[in-house]
Amino acid sequence: MTLVSPRFDLYESQFGNWDELSYIRSKPRRATPFDPNLYFYPEGMATLFAHPRVANSPEHVRRELLVLHLYNYLEFTVRLELGPVNDVSKLLCLEDFLPWLPSQMRDDAFKIYVDEGAHAEMCRVLMMSVQQSTRVERLRLTPAFLRTLEDLVSSEQPEHRPLIKLFFVIISETLITGSLVRLPKDETVQRAVRDVANDHATDEGRHHAYFRKVFEYVWPRLPREMKRKIGILLPDMILAFLQPDKSALMRMLESFPEHFARPAQIVEEVIDYKSTVDGIVASASPTLKMLRENHVFDDPAIDNEFTRLRLVPPRNESRPSMSNWRTDQAIPAGFQDQPVELVEVSSE
Ligand SMILES: [Fe+2]
Ligand SMILES: [Fe+2]
Repeated sequence: MTLVSPRFDLYESQFGNWDELSYIRSKPRRATPFDPNLYFYPEGMATLFAHPRVANSPEHVRRELLVLHLYNYLEFTVRLELGPVNDVSKLLCLEDFLPWLPSQMRDDAFKIYVDEGAHAEMCRVLMMSVQQSTRVERLRLTPAFLRTLEDLVSSEQPEHRPLIKLFFVIISETLITGSLVRLPKDETVQRAVRDVANDHATDEGRHHAYFRKVFEYVWPRLPREMKRKIGILLPDMILAFLQPDKSALMRMLESFPEHFARPAQIVEEVIDYKSTVDGIVASASPTLKMLRENHVFDDPAIDNEFTRLRLVPPRNESRPSMSNWRTDQAIPAGFQDQPVELVEVSSE
């Protein structure tokens, strides 16, 4: 089948200057020494630190917990890049996968594959050097999002699985997490950690634009039933990345039994905080806007599923208010997106 659309001429590569701009092609590998006065992760971004019992714990406990938060973030990145992200980048490199995609889009998938391998490697190097320096042992946990992906994929027919994975990765690559935006700017944090986050964020700006384009090419071409099948899974995919990982947080607190007698209670309370929920919605905002602009919510079944999970897309085209963004939450260039509002969902 030949598929021709005028939009197919509109693919503009973001990777023209890849040799000059990407981390792996242009930046030196660093070995910045650690400063004993600096932290390994920002308290303001560490989920557990929203809880007063954690925030008021002794300095040595907080410092160690921040190291565990850093490991969690780095392990998440390594497993994401080596797992679904590069599985999908590899698929996009192959000419028999969605053969109607523009040839240049396929060329760029090779560059993303290389970028993501480099991100995994730099996170691994940092993790090992932090462990060597701090003597804080890694917990070696499997991130929760991998289990969600496995559940989503295994419950579908084999021929649909590559598409499910593709959308899972589109979601992950279009979300904006605090680690990408705020971590590089936090001067209380080790330079080596900020540099890794900054180098990663710079590459991810290009990946964000790329995967948004992939979405714009693929979604309109899906049959209606396939749109619905994938569409109702999208909010679960978003939450897989943005919801705090309960079991990882529990394991972190369990490392200090003398300080946290009831870790489960602390984790439950933190997850229910309004600030935690607001953070999820803020990070999902650009992705929800992309979905709305591509008419994903035109199907009431999909719209209802997002509403049920309290991920509500913006309803009008008016100029966005920035009031939902915290003033310390700068939005990087190219990410000037409209925030969404969390609404109360009735229990009817
Ligand atoms: Fe990456
Ligand atoms: Fe990426």
